[in-house]
Parts: sequence; C-alpha cells; structure tokens
Amino acid sequence: MAGFKTLDDAGDVTGKVALVRVDLNLPMDGGRVTDDTRVRASAPTILELSRKGAKVLLLAHFGRPKGQRSSTQSLSMVIDAVQDVLGKEVMFVPEVAGPVVEQTVGILRNGDIAILENTRFWPGEEANDPEFAKAIAANGDLFVNDAFSAAHRAHATTEGLTHLLPSYAGRSMQAELEALEKALGNPEKPVAAVVGGAKVSSKLAVLKHLVDKVDHLIIGGGMANTFLAARGVDVGKSLCEHELAPTCEEILDAADAAGCTVHLPYDVVVAKEFAANPPSMRICNVHEVAADEMILDVGPQAVEALGDVLKTCRTLVWNGPLGAFETSPFDAATVALAKTAAALSKEGSLVSVAGGGDTVAALNHAGAAADFTYISTAGGAFLEWMEGRVLPGVAALEA
Ligand code: 3PG
Repeated sequence: MAGFKTLDDAGDVTGKVALVRVDLNLPMDGGRVTDDTRVRASAPTILELSRKGAKVLLLAHFGRPKGQRSSTQSLSMVIDAVQDVLGKEVMFVPEVAGPVVEQTVGILRNGDIAILENTRFWPGEEANDPEFAKAIAANGDLFVNDAFSAAHRAHATTEGLTHLLPSYAGRSMQAELEALEKALGNPEKPVAAVVGGAKVSSKLAVLKHLVDKVDHLIIGGGMANTFLAARGVDVGKSLCEHELAPTCEEILDAADAAGCTVHLPYDVVVAKEFAANPPSMRICNVHEVAADEMILDVGPQAVEALGDVLKTCRTLVWNGPLGAFETSPFDAATVALAKTAAALSKEGSLVSVAGGGDTVAALNHAGAAADFTYISTAGGAFLEWMEGRVLPGVAALEA
C-alpha cells in the first residue's frame, strides 16, 4: 500500500473549511435511522476537525436518487442521528455548492458542523464531473475522505475532489486501510479466509483472488453447495448454481496449484422446509442428503474442525455467513466459528478482519463483533477490496 496523508499532516486547520466525505447511507425505517454505526465510525474525524477549529462541511450520499432531488432521500432525515452521536448541533444545508453553501460558510463559527444535501441529487456526482467537483471545492480549503465504504465509487466527492484540494484520509478511513493492509496486504501467515453467503456467482472474483493469497479458504453458505455439487455430491434441493460447476473446478484447481487448502463442510444441517426449527431438521454427512432435503448450515463436526484450523492461523478475513443465519437454528455454525475467532483474537493469537453487508449483522448476532480485531463498515467496497481491486477513492488519496 502506498502512503496516504492523514489528519496529522493537515497542519493548522483553524478557521479553514474542511469538506469531509462521510458515509451517511444509513439503514432507515419510517424516516428514522435504525443503525448509526457509520456515523459513530466518522465521529472521531468530525469531532477532531471541529475541536481543532475547522468549519466542517459534511458531504455524503443517501440511496440512489439518480441525479434528481427526492424528498424521501434528503440527508435532512439523518440530522437527528448525527447530532445524537456527535453530541453537538449540526446545521443542514439543502445544497452542495454555490451561493447558499458560501453564505453558510460565512456564518459558521470555527468548530461548527454542517451537513450538505445528498450529493447524488446532482448528476455530476456519479459522473465524477470535474465542473461539479470544482463547484464543491470552491467552498472548501481541504478535503478529508472518511468514507472507505464509498471508496469503490469514482464519484466527484469520493475521487474528484482529491485532485482539487489538499486531501487527507480521515481517522476511520485510516483505520480501515491499516486493518486491511494487516489482513491481506502484508499479513502474518498462515492466513485463513471465511467466504460465505448464498451465491458463488456474486463472489467469484473474491474466491479467485483469495486462493493466491490465503493458506486456508473456508467456504460456507449456499456457495458451499455449489462447490459440493461440482465435486459430485448430490445436494438435493439445496440452493445451488449447478451451471457454475466448471468454474468451481477451476477455482479448486487454482487453489491446489497455489497451495491453498479449500475447506468444504463434510457434515451439514438439512431440512425439508426452510423455517425456524423445522421438524424435518437433521444433521448428516454431505453424502447422505436426500433428494427432498436442503442444506441450511454447516454441521457441528465440520465447525469444530474449522475452529482447529483457525487455531493454527495468525490472520483471518471473514465475509459472509456459513448458514442461513437469520433463521434459528441455522445460525449455529456461524455463531460457533465466530465465537472461536473472537476468542482467538482476544487472546492475541489471531488478527481478524470482517466486513460486508450480512457479515457484520451475523457477527453482531453471534456476540462476537466486539472481539474481532477490526470490523469494516463497508459492504460493496469491502468485497471489491477482497477481489483485489483498486478502489478509486483510496487510490486518489495515495496519489
Ligand atoms: C454502501 O452503502 O455500501 C455505500 O454507501 C455505497 O453505496 P452505493 O452502493 O449506493 O454506491
């Protein structure tokens, strides 16, 4: 990883206008924020700049309004949640550039914080239009990017602004980049990766990238069924992408060639219907799945063996659940392995980094998240990073 500047390099920011890209794409229900994790992640950056006397203008997107104003996607809806987390009053500005923002800057005192409107209300954001970026930059003195979770987008406020203003990684971006470097960039070996989730098709690039990087690749979730089927196992009516059998074989061959051990479950939890605690549920060997059964979780013996694998590793990257974890008891394998990983991390023998949509929910559900070394706030960006792709928002900071 090339170097990037942090807030430590920003010098005296007193009275300066800091344009700070954060991720306020928050889960909402009935107009209320249901999870403020991303606000909490960026709070240290925002409060540090405020404490140092900068005028802080927050830039963020919400949803995908496709270049048009939409009353249901205004960032005015997140003001309360942001104020609650920061413990400070925050002003809302219904524009991102132009005279209204200029006037706001004029009335802000040093240390004040304002949120500008959803950047995606303007087509120039997603088009990464240099003129749009220039109009935003005109009201700022420096740019701070604290939104790793939006860094896979080459948009005006994730990439374009870095070419126009002195630019720095915020504290959350810095922590993400440092943790990811430890996990896959320059990890202590042996390295294990857990890749779960429903579909192989959505994680092909991740799997292909990881076989060259890790010593143990643990495949779970519906994806494991596709691999098992490719190996000739009859998976009954399990979720399975049979057409991907040749691709799975290629991945298994590549893993062999790279010296990466792929772990597929050898016992599984099956049921005839997908419901909580179904009467038809049973544990069996993968070769004993009946035609009318579906695999819904990794079995207890396999989980124990996977725990033993983690005990031999120094680094773990985790993305995706091992089973249908939202429905009890098909969360058992995810919970058990997450607890093992958390305990090893707590005692200091494992560096564990997890990220991506469902993963954080699954680890929270397991009560394991707090003891992981690092939990990313990113969904799509974490996956793209696991694919080994260059994230434009990060590359621009490193330039
Ligand atoms: C996210 O929620 O993962 C980020 O904010 C990116 O959002 P996007 O997928 O709409 O670009």
